[in-house]
Amino acid sequence: MNEQTMRPTTATVMMPRDTNAMGNIFGGVILSHIDLAGAVAARTACNKAVLRVVTVAMDKVVFKKPVLVGDVLECYAEVVRVGKTSITTHIEVIADRNGRKIRVTEADAVYVAVNAKGRPVPVGCNDQPGSKKEDQPGSGSKAGSQSGKTAGSSIQSGRVAKGGCRKSGSR
Ligand SMILES: CC(C)(COP(=O)(O)OP(=O)(O)OC[C@H]1O[C@@H](n2cnc3c(N)ncnc32)[C@H](O)[C@@H]1OP(=O)(O)O)[C@@H](O)C(=O)NCCC(=O)NCCS
Repeated sequence: MNEQTMRPTTATVMMPRDTNAMGNIFGGVILSHIDLAGAVAARTACNKAVLRVVTVAMDKVVFKKPVLVGDVLECYAEVVRVGKTSITTHIEVIADRNGRKIRVTEADAVYVAVNAKGRPVPVGCNDQPGSKKEDQPGSGSKAGSQSGKTAGSSIQSGRVAKGGCRKSGSR
């Protein structure tokens, strides 16, 4: 992942309300930003008919450096694997401190595409041959239309198009 050329999936200014007893940014706050960024990336791997994704697992989170009040917390999320109903993402977290980019955290997070009842549904693929909208639950929905809104997500879509569809269902 090249943070110099990519736009972050999410970017948020860290505020005094987000601090722990040490005065640094609380790990749980960083986790919530990681979760949001991973979900945005995961949505880009889903057929537009998929209404939502839910977090099923955070496999690895490493807090390498503290984040300070005033830092811009940038999360760069990419899809690394697409299963039948699950999407695995990797998230790099960078603190932008007055223009200095500091790698502070990284994580892997897994999401599952679910229907309105919260049950897993096939992820599908945006460019999968034969994935007609009318074949999918919730067809005609605008859900997933945020795909490609960030530079990060368009890169993720490319990755999925190259490898994700072929791997789909191989788990
Ligand atoms: C996510 C959820 C719908 C999955 O239901 P489930 O009955 O376990 O579904 P399945 O066993 O069919 O697994 C679905 C997919 O998740 C994957 N999965 C399940 N548990 C996993 C885990 N611990 N780690 C990684 N992947 C996992 C499975 O491998 C499967 O992937 P695949 O279809 O690509 O092969 C259910 O566990 C749930 O509702 N969890 C709560 C979600 C939540 O509230 N998250 C926090 C707020 S968003």
